[in-house]
Amino acid sequence: MCGIVGYIGKKQATPILMEGLSKLEYRGYDSAGVAVHHGDSIKMVKAQGKLVNLAKRLEETPLSGTLGIGHTRWATHGAPSDINSHPHMSEDKMIAVVHNGIIENYLEIKEELEAKGYQFHSETDTETVALLLDYYYKRGNDFLESVFAVLERIEGAYALAILCKDDPDTLIAARKNCPLVIGQGEGENFIASDIPALLHHTRDVYFLDDHEVAVVKADSITIYNEQKQTVERDLFHVDWSVDAAEKGGYDHFMIKEINEQPKIVQELIAQRVDREKGEIRMDGISLTKADLEKIDRIYVVACGTAYHAGLYGKFLIEKICRIPVVADVASEFRYKDPILDEKTLVIVVSQSGETADTLEALRISKRHGARVLAIVNAVGSSIAREADDVFYILAGPEISVASTKAFTAQALSMALICSHIALMMGHMTKEEFMALCDEWEALPQKISHVLQKSLVEEGLAKKYKQSKNVFYIGRGVDYFVSMESSLKLKEIAYLHSEAYAAGELKHGPIAMIEDSTLVIALLTQEALFEKTLSNIKEVKARGAKVIAITQKGNTTAEGEVEDIIYIPQSSWMTAPLLANVTTQLFAYYVAKELGTDIDQPRNLAKSVTVE
Ligand code: G6P
Repeated sequence: MCGIVGYIGKKQATPILMEGLSKLEYRGYDSAGVAVHHGDSIKMVKAQGKLVNLAKRLEETPLSGTLGIGHTRWATHGAPSDINSHPHMSEDKMIAVVHNGIIENYLEIKEELEAKGYQFHSETDTETVALLLDYYYKRGNDFLESVFAVLERIEGAYALAILCKDDPDTLIAARKNCPLVIGQGEGENFIASDIPALLHHTRDVYFLDDHEVAVVKADSITIYNEQKQTVERDLFHVDWSVDAAEKGGYDHFMIKEINEQPKIVQELIAQRVDREKGEIRMDGISLTKADLEKIDRIYVVACGTAYHAGLYGKFLIEKICRIPVVADVASEFRYKDPILDEKTLVIVVSQSGETADTLEALRISKRHGARVLAIVNAVGSSIAREADDVFYILAGPEISVASTKAFTAQALSMALICSHIALMMGHMTKEEFMALCDEWEALPQKISHVLQKSLVEEGLAKKYKQSKNVFYIGRGVDYFVSMESSLKLKEIAYLHSEAYAAGELKHGPIAMIEDSTLVIALLTQEALFEKTLSNIKEVKARGAKVIAITQKGNTTAEGEVEDIIYIPQSSWMTAPLLANVTTQLFAYYVAKELGTDIDQPRNLAKSVTVE
């Protein structure tokens, strides 16, 4: 989704803004622009398409100055075009604005401004902010007062970065429901919608909270709350290395992140499992046994890949802890009047910690008295800050739009939380916990084994890349991994695929099976193996080509299917995670064969901060 950068200091702003924007490309965008304060004027250059287009325009029209803002736009109001790109400026170039989010009442304000003689040039909601600012400024308010006046009028979600021609020493930033961080340098300061854009310059950041405004100068940062009072904020030190957000020799972030999974799993287990005490280290989480005893219902709420990890968690908690769990996508949950009270635990799962629907689900849950536990990757994100308890998945920055390592870390975190609840509530013995620890500790090596054999998936990708319809089928936990696997193929290879509970296929979708339809069957669950094998036979009888994913040592599927991917032997709980690594690889190699933009797939965004 859209990205924001800003710079104020002694260096030339344009290269810093362009470098920052390049670090935000992964969020997904369709146009970009920068505006730089030139001493007595603000100059702006924008271009539809990728950053190279903007870079070319900047070669023709260089912008010099040491204060500037930049933006990558993911179109919401108005098509991707030069004119709709940000920044947006007032007619006499007094004000320049970049904006993430959606101004919901922009039409009303636009009509009002048009009646006052203002002319709009773009179809965006953002231009309203620039012109309204101009209006308040020209009525005698200073720059900051004008910003506050605008914020009182606009509804919706925003992260804003603003320049004013009359104020060459000031950059103003504001936020509501869209992330914004301020990076502190020496004699220079930065703003960005996401930390990777700052990492080359500083690791010391302030997170802005909702309704806050920051006045950023080269040597000071002042944060104001909604009541216009200054607020103190702790400086947060980001400890990711710069390398963590670079490709490190891989062709794509996605394959780099797939390959990081053994290390991430190992670190998560090392951090969270205390074998000696026979417990999970729930650092930072205050859910006590007494709290858990009160809980009679759990919701797991998330979007996209995080939702699939949530489904895996639901299965585990119900099977092991015997507590009813409802899993829901956040965009549905927030509008369905869910049954919530102080006896409800809501687990929200989010890689970015900024997904608008998930954040709203969290807020609704809290308003109704429910306890909210967040499973989050991005430290300091809105969801992490607003939840009652946070369980960090410790996966490091995930740059590829298609989520891979975060899924594995989220699913494993679900398993760890489930074990914690089970131990506290007496549903798991110490011996059972130790057996699980053995399984988890063996997982990194097993994932490495799958990765070492990635030639298998690469070969299958070449063989099946022309498939028009792909079905992923599985039962039990395999079904949830089928859903995630299917999503991966859609996201990056743009192949139509569906996930179906293997036993449900005959109630409709089997009508779609014809000669050469590809069916990828997950058979990691020993207890359900024969059942899924029967479903394979049903699709084979109708002409499908089948790839089976099954545990090493079980050769039953040979002769029944075209191809088999063997995963190392594992328990019912961890085997699906290994199967998922194989389908990540398959999706990656199919996309590579088809030549798609793997790290920034069309129409998608990494962090979805609009509804
Ligand atoms: C977007 C991303 C997905 C992600 C989903 C939820 O759609 O493209 O990869 O799974 O948002 O994101 P979250 O950050 O909340 O996990």
